[in-house]
Amino acid sequence: MDSILVTGNGPLSGQIPIAGAKNACLTLMPATLLSEEPLTLTNAPRLSDIKTMTALLQSLGAEVSALQDGQVIAMSSHNLTSHVADYDIVRKMRASNLVLGPLLARFGQAVVSLPGGCAIGARPMDLHVEGLEALGAEIELKDGYLHAKTSGGLKGAVHEMRFASVGATENIVMAATLAKGTTVLKNAAREPEIVDLVECLRKMGAQISGEGSSTIEIQGVDRLHGATHQVVTDRIELGTYMLAPAICGGEVELLGGRMRLVESFAAKLDAAGISVTETDKGLKVARKNGRVTSVDVVTEPFPGFPTDLQAQMMALMCTVEGVSVLEERIFENRFMHAPELVRMGANIEVHGGTATVTGVERLKGARVMATDLRASVSLILAGLAAEGETTVSRVYHLDRGYEHVVRKLEGVGAKIERIKSE
Ligand code: UD1
Repeated sequence: MDSILVTGNGPLSGQIPIAGAKNACLTLMPATLLSEEPLTLTNAPRLSDIKTMTALLQSLGAEVSALQDGQVIAMSSHNLTSHVADYDIVRKMRASNLVLGPLLARFGQAVVSLPGGCAIGARPMDLHVEGLEALGAEIELKDGYLHAKTSGGLKGAVHEMRFASVGATENIVMAATLAKGTTVLKNAAREPEIVDLVECLRKMGAQISGEGSSTIEIQGVDRLHGATHQVVTDRIELGTYMLAPAICGGEVELLGGRMRLVESFAAKLDAAGISVTETDKGLKVARKNGRVTSVDVVTEPFPGFPTDLQAQMMALMCTVEGVSVLEERIFENRFMHAPELVRMGANIEVHGGTATVTGVERLKGARVMATDLRASVSLILAGLAAEGETTVSRVYHLDRGYEHVVRKLEGVGAKIERIKSE
C-alpha cells in the first residue's frame, strides 16, 4: 500500500485550486436514476469514491462515462436492468445508500445493502427508512439488505425528521420528486450539497422550494428530464487547505473558494488569529502576526462547524498556544486521529465525545496511520508543521476524498511525496 512522506519546511505561498464537492457529486450521480434522459455533471472531482459510485450505477444498468480526464461525468439511465445495490459495492462507501430513494421512486422497488464507509460510528439508516415510509414505501430488513417497495407508487406527505441527516434528506427529496402530490420535509438538513442537489433536480424539471432552510417542499411531477449541472465547490477540501497556511505560516489563495461555504469555520480561524478574505478568485488565507491561539470547537449540522473538518482543526490546535476543547456531536467515534497525533508529540486527552488539546511548541515527525478519510489528511497537515519526516500509511482513505493532494501541496511549497508500494 502506498504511503505519503511529508517533511516540515516552513511557510507556504501560492494558489491551490479547489475541486468539485465529493459529497455533492455522490448525491448528484444517483439522481440520474430518476430520469430516462441523460444527466451530465461538470466540475466532478477525480476520486476513488466517484469510481465506486460509477461501478454501483453501472451494476444497475446505467451508462456512466468519465470524460475530460474525469471532470465530466455523462450518465444515462434509460435502460436499467437491476434494482439491487449489492453488498460488495455498498460496503465500500456509505453514500451508496443514496440509490435507495431514486430507485424506489422510478421503479417502485429497491433492494439496497446496509452501507459501509468510514468506521466513524454506527451510522444507521433509520431516518432514511422513516422518511421513505412516510411517502408510502414498505421497507423491511432481510439478510443485511433493505427491501423497499411501494404499492401504487409513492405519495407526498408531511414528514419531520428526528435529526437533520444529510443523506436521509437527499434520499427523501429525490424520492419525493416523482411522488404523487406534495411533500413537506421538516427539520431537513441545510448543507450546501443539498442546495446543489435541488438546483440540479430543478433543472431536470422537479418542483422544489425551501432548500437551504429546514423546511423543503416538493411538488411531485410525472417525470424528470435530462440536464447538465456543475458540481458545487468542495467546502471540506477548501477548509482542509485553508488550514495549510494556518498551520505552516504563509499566505495561500484557495481558487474557487467562497465564504458562504465555510462561514463558521472561517470565524473560528479568525478567532485563532488567521485572516480569511474573499477575493474575486477565491479565499485568501494568511497567518496574522505571532503564534496562533487556541479556540474551542463544537461540531454541528450546517451552518455550524462541520464534523468533516474536526480532525484537521485538531491538527492545528495541537500546534497553538493554549488549551482547546473539541466536542464531536455528529459522530460518536470520530477521534481515531487523536492517538496518531499523540505519536507526533501532541498532547490530547479524549473523554467520550470531547477532546482536550494542549498546544505544544513543535510536533515531531513520526510513522502514523490513516484511519479514515478526514483523519488521513489531518496527519498530513500535522506533518507539514512537524520537525523532521512524517510517513502516513494507508493512504487509500485519502484517495477517496482528495484529488492530487501531493501536487496541490507541492504547488504552494510543501515537501511532500507519495511513496509507491513495491
Ligand atoms: C454526510 C457526509 C459526511 C458528513 C455527514 C455529516 C456524504 C456522502 N457524506 O454523511 O461526509 O460527515 O454528512 O455532515 O454526504 N444517522 C442516524 N440515522 C440515519 C442517518 C444518520 O442515526 O438514518 C446519524 C449518523 O449515525 C450520524 C448523524 O446521524 O451520527 C449524521 O449523519 P448524516 O447527516 O446522515 O451523514 P451522512 O449523510 O451519512
